[in-house]
Amino acid sequence: MAVDVLLGLQWGDEGKGKIVDFLAPQYPIIARFQGGPNAGHTLVVDGKKIVLHTVPSGILYSEIVNLIGNGVVIDPATLKKEIESLSAYDIDLQRQLRIAEKAHLILPSHRLLDAASEHAKGAGKIGSTLRGIGPTYMDKTGRNGIRVGDIMTSSFMATYKDLKAKHMRLLSLYPEFSIEEDEVKKAEEAFFEGIEFIRRLSIVNGEQFLHNALEKGMDVLAEGAQGTLLDIEYGSYPFVTSSNTISAAACTGLGISPQNIREVIGITKAYCTRVGSGPFPSELHGEEGESLREKGGEFGATTGRPRRCGWIDLPLLNYAIKINGVTQIAMTKVDVLEDMESVSYADSYSVNGAVIEGIPFDLEDERIVVNYNNVSGWSATKDGSIHPNLQAFIETVERKLSVPIRYLSNGPEREKLNILGG
Ligand code: GDP
Ligand code: IMO
Ligand code: MG
Repeated sequence: MAVDVLLGLQWGDEGKGKIVDFLAPQYPIIARFQGGPNAGHTLVVDGKKIVLHTVPSGILYSEIVNLIGNGVVIDPATLKKEIESLSAYDIDLQRQLRIAEKAHLILPSHRLLDAASEHAKGAGKIGSTLRGIGPTYMDKTGRNGIRVGDIMTSSFMATYKDLKAKHMRLLSLYPEFSIEEDEVKKAEEAFFEGIEFIRRLSIVNGEQFLHNALEKGMDVLAEGAQGTLLDIEYGSYPFVTSSNTISAAACTGLGISPQNIREVIGITKAYCTRVGSGPFPSELHGEEGESLREKGGEFGATTGRPRRCGWIDLPLLNYAIKINGVTQIAMTKVDVLEDMESVSYADSYSVNGAVIEGIPFDLEDERIVVNYNNVSGWSATKDGSIHPNLQAFIETVERKLSVPIRYLSNGPEREKLNILGG
């Protein structure tokens, strides 16, 4: 039938995993379309926290098929570990998981290149998760990559050795970056164990699998990773990831057409966070930022790094909404803002006293002034209803973004969610 796309509107970690897990029962198929193990999508079910990196967030439902799409980059070692960490959930991998044969593989030497490149950048580093994402997508666009389907061919080992040798030559350009031979050997062993593991999974032609399902009248939820402001094209370049994270990437990453797309569900926190380097105009420094980080538990799901925190930024959200064609918003973490005297939001940007339209080329341009506005704070209500001040905040955001907030999340658990507007 149709594909609904769910993606992040900020710098990642908006709560995509939680919302996918909530919406999943409406869909027979959940498909990840880009990114790789740089992602960390958290689900909290029956009091237990599960963090997924490559596996789509519908994996806990036995009746749903989860596709790791063509646009995803896969680290076989981390995928194996991730799936093993789900052993308590009695998952039938053959039935519940498919891997697209055109998805590219992250080699141990891709990770080394990622680390060497970040090391060489020094203070100007991107703040990468060091999962090998950038070098793998570089090899994909450079037409040197190795795909999941290649592991079934007799030339796989030769191709692997060639690409590794090329990476080693590139690494020699970073003489100050030391490589521990022992570590490389261990990583390579884990990689090949991961390859053997993947061989036993259900590897499919991803686009054909989806075309057949759509023709049979099935709906698909396409799960994005990262967020719009980390998009390689439209994010805060160069402080971005190496894939397109926007709704258009659901088409390229899954092999579906724009006509297949129905709803685009954009996720935003009620405030904003970022992990890694790069501009963040509405960032709160000092105690205010610290208090949001503590209250929101803002530490990376993949790397454990503290997330930078700030107010929700409506000009940036407007930008993200237009790029993605967002039709519905899910706002998460409204509970984290409870019991504050007032809640601020970035309302506009101005330069030389004049409000500017759109987003400046350089978000770090010193002439930019962020104009804030605020609403009175709210607290939790005894009956779970929406506090009038929270309602006023929701209405303000909806008016300024011209898109309805359809879901309101007020806790990490699956059931902590209000559906708004009927
Ligand atoms: P994702 O990468 O977009 O899936 O988000 P992450 O899982 O990296 O980070 C979101 C964090 O917020 C996780 O720890 C979630 O369990 C948590 N979370 C999601 N929604 C809510 C919410 O409404 N309230 C609170 N307090 N936590 C939430
Ligand atoms: P999810 O799907 C938040 C950030 C990194 C770094 C930049 C580049 O959980 O929302 P990379 O490893 O891709 O080379 O890192 O992007 N980043 C994320 N930040 N959530 C993510 O994923 C991220 N994936 C990458 O911190 O700044
Ligand atoms: Mg995350």
